[in-house]
Amino acid sequence: MSRVLLTGGTGYIGSHTAVSLLESGHEVVVVDNLVNSKIDSIREVEKLMNAKVPTYIGDVQDEQLMNRIFTEQHIDVVIHFAGLKAVGESVHKPLEYYQNNFDSTLVLIRTMLAHQVNNIVFSSSATVYDPANDPERVEGMPVGNCSCPYGWTKFMIEQIIRDCCHAYPQLNAVMLRYFNPVGAHPSGVIGENPLGIPNNLMPYIQQVAVGKLDHLNIFGNDYPTPDGTCVRDYIHVCDLADAHALACDYLLKHEGCCQEINIGSGHGVSVMELVTAFEKANNMKLAYQFAPRREGDLPIFFANADKARELLGFKTRRSVEDMCRDAYRYQQKQSGKE
Ligand code: NAD
Ligand code: UD1
Repeated sequence: MSRVLLTGGTGYIGSHTAVSLLESGHEVVVVDNLVNSKIDSIREVEKLMNAKVPTYIGDVQDEQLMNRIFTEQHIDVVIHFAGLKAVGESVHKPLEYYQNNFDSTLVLIRTMLAHQVNNIVFSSSATVYDPANDPERVEGMPVGNCSCPYGWTKFMIEQIIRDCCHAYPQLNAVMLRYFNPVGAHPSGVIGENPLGIPNNLMPYIQQVAVGKLDHLNIFGNDYPTPDGTCVRDYIHVCDLADAHALACDYLLKHEGCCQEINIGSGHGVSVMELVTAFEKANNMKLAYQFAPRREGDLPIFFANADKARELLGFKTRRSVEDMCRDAYRYQQKQSGKE
């Protein structure tokens, strides 16, 4: 089995991926500067899996540190999660977003090549697709016209990786375009608990459910969708984590690859359907009201999941009810701690 370095590994998706990798027999090493996470998540993973995860606290932009990690650890694959990810914040702080997300990627690829580490999985996003596309996003569709600097960093880092694969044929890359990751590990010990008022739907619902927020505002009920609310492709974070373990296996078996792959369920779910599923899964009522549309929201988009199935053998296993139950369990545990 292989040893996998997770940049940004103490974060939401990174910590769940650590579990998935350990479950499938890989070893895990983490580097994170804790700008948006706590070391506790990796400690919880270690307890859960009864495993040791060497963790370096530091910035991926620090070339000396990255050289040290590649010298001390025999790394086979890198999964590059580290990055700033808040859509709204990126509009107000473009320099921070471009510097952090670009420089960390450039330093990472440079040090990987210097140490003959040739396999990289990159955390991309469905946000790279041109909004003018058909709602069912297929990998070959046009990308660009991103709505914010965060989206442009994903768009441009994909291009940087494609250019590097072309220039350095030994480099193998898989760029996973995530749709909407939600939920938490069923143990309830790791999950997503953003600082301040959440921007994204599921964390907001979780906080309404535990009484931390008063009610959910549903942004728009007059969209051209069956119930008037926006439709997205939600994916359980543990399914998303499993996709990373499969991507590592794929990279180790395919030299000279450079692939963009959607990771979603392939099914659209409306805001109203998610609210109803949350109520049913947790046997409760959620307070909500309809509010004006949020600027920049598209009525509907979801993944075409064929390529992930064909190349990685990936298929989602958890239902929307699982997402809702696990998200609530995690939030309840968190509010017990607060
Ligand atoms: P997260 O913020 O929980 O995790 C990112 C981690 O990277 C954090 O722990 C942060 O401390 C760390 N980090 C940031 N810059 C760093 C740097 N320069 N050096 C070291 N560590 C650094 O976010 P997440 O939800 O787990 O997302 C992981 C990746 O997936 C990100 O690249 C994000 O853009 C991408 N992504 C996330 C979503 C989503 O909905 N969560 C959707 C699409 C893509
Ligand atoms: C958002 C980002 C996207 C990012 C993704 C990460 C925007 C425009 N897009 O996607 O770039 O990759 O998060 O998961 O920010 N909603 C409500 N009430 C709320 C919050 C959300 O009704 O309080 C609705 C939104 O209008 C949307 C749906 O819920 O229709 C999902 O929203 P969200 O979770 O923010 O994800 P996206 O907008 O799809």
